[in-house]
Amino acid sequence: MKEHSVARSQAIHERAKALIPGTTQLISRRPTRAALGVSPIYAERAKGCRIWDVDGNEYIDWTSAVGPVILGYADDVVDDAVRAQIDRGSIYSIVQESAVELAEELVRIVPSAEMVRYCKGGGEACTIAVRIARGVTGRDKVLFCGYHGWHDWYQAANIGTERLADHLFNGIEPIGVPRALEGTALPFAYGDLEGLETLLVQNEGEVGCIIMEPMRSEEPPAGYLAGVRELASRYGVVLIFDEVSSGFRIALGGAQEYAGVTPDLSVFAKALSNGYPMGAVVGKRAFMEPATQMFISSAYWDDNIGIAASLATLRELERRDAVGHFNRIGDLFKQQINEAADAVGLDARCEGVAAHPGIRFNVENPGDAAKVSTLFIQENARRGVILSNGFMFNCAHGEAEIEQTAVVVRESFAIIAEGLDRGTLDELLECPIQEEFFRRLVR
Ligand SMILES: Cc1ncc(COP(=O)(O)O)c(C=O)c1O
Repeated sequence: MKEHSVARSQAIHERAKALIPGTTQLISRRPTRAALGVSPIYAERAKGCRIWDVDGNEYIDWTSAVGPVILGYADDVVDDAVRAQIDRGSIYSIVQESAVELAEELVRIVPSAEMVRYCKGGGEACTIAVRIARGVTGRDKVLFCGYHGWHDWYQAANIGTERLADHLFNGIEPIGVPRALEGTALPFAYGDLEGLETLLVQNEGEVGCIIMEPMRSEEPPAGYLAGVRELASRYGVVLIFDEVSSGFRIALGGAQEYAGVTPDLSVFAKALSNGYPMGAVVGKRAFMEPATQMFISSAYWDDNIGIAASLATLRELERRDAVGHFNRIGDLFKQQINEAADAVGLDARCEGVAAHPGIRFNVENPGDAAKVSTLFIQENARRGVILSNGFMFNCAHGEAEIEQTAVVVRESFAIIAEGLDRGTLDELLECPIQEEFFRRLVR
């Protein structure tokens, strides 16, 4: 195996530590969450499903920029549309017709969409949706299930008692979140309709909305989402689907199309624009129209670049049958990863819906779980593959990348199996154990 070094990445990281608190803006991109010292930290460029780092290493990347890249890095069609927009001007004192065209596209594609607002990111879009729901109902409490970003309304869940542990990760201190928000954001467990109804009864007349990730990697239990819909309607609560991660992947119209359940409002970001900042809140007219009277406003939300990127992305997702592609390569990916695990006798499984599966290691000793996940990232990285337990396909991933990755994963799995058998995981690790990764209640 070729000598693998990320020395230049490491040197830049040292500079970053003195200048940028946490070193990256997205917590999931922090190098302490990968195999620090082996994983690449700084990229030089990316194309398709490949990344080249500043040390000259080439990787097949399965993380797709943590979700935003759905067609592939530096996609020619989207980037041409963006370049054409730059030539016309990125933002004006007035607005551009393309804003209306994108709204028309979203209304055509997304079942819950009758009206549309824009913003620049997922957490921001959730915050707008919650504001609208609170404004429409006049009620403050939010029942949530899943990850919805960094804003006060959501992080307030951890004031007083730790309610985000199952939905995000342990030990999040809601530092800087007003204590006055205590008790305004209450979690519910995915799949448990009775628990949700209990919360609705206990807080009757106070709940403005239910916001949830409708699904991620696993099929929703039969009738579950329809049950949530029914409860929301019965208790007069706005139902919001957060489709930041499920949108355009599970089905073009999101998990709501896949499950046949229509929420009142929905939130999209990330994959909407193949890597250009963009978010959208869509919903039924009765809930969206009142937003006209609410102060929900920001200069860059009228930027034309994100809109141009979104229009091109949506068009290409349909033209390339992205969802069909994800289902095909997802099945193949699962099969090859599971064969690799079987070949070396490792109790690991790649499972979940084909368009968005995940890898699970079944370890006897819970203390080994984080070590195994870190070793997996480490051994993949040094062999030119960026892959952890969670990943996102893009349209540039094909059979050749799966074949190449399966060879690497088999070697990584063999090392993990040896480490587990001989109790030598600590010796095999050349990096600190990754800091706690996202724990997803919605799997
Ligand atoms: C379901 C969901 N909601 C909200 C967000 C937050 O989006 P952003 O990071 O763009 O603020 C994410 C990001 O991972 C997400 O997966």
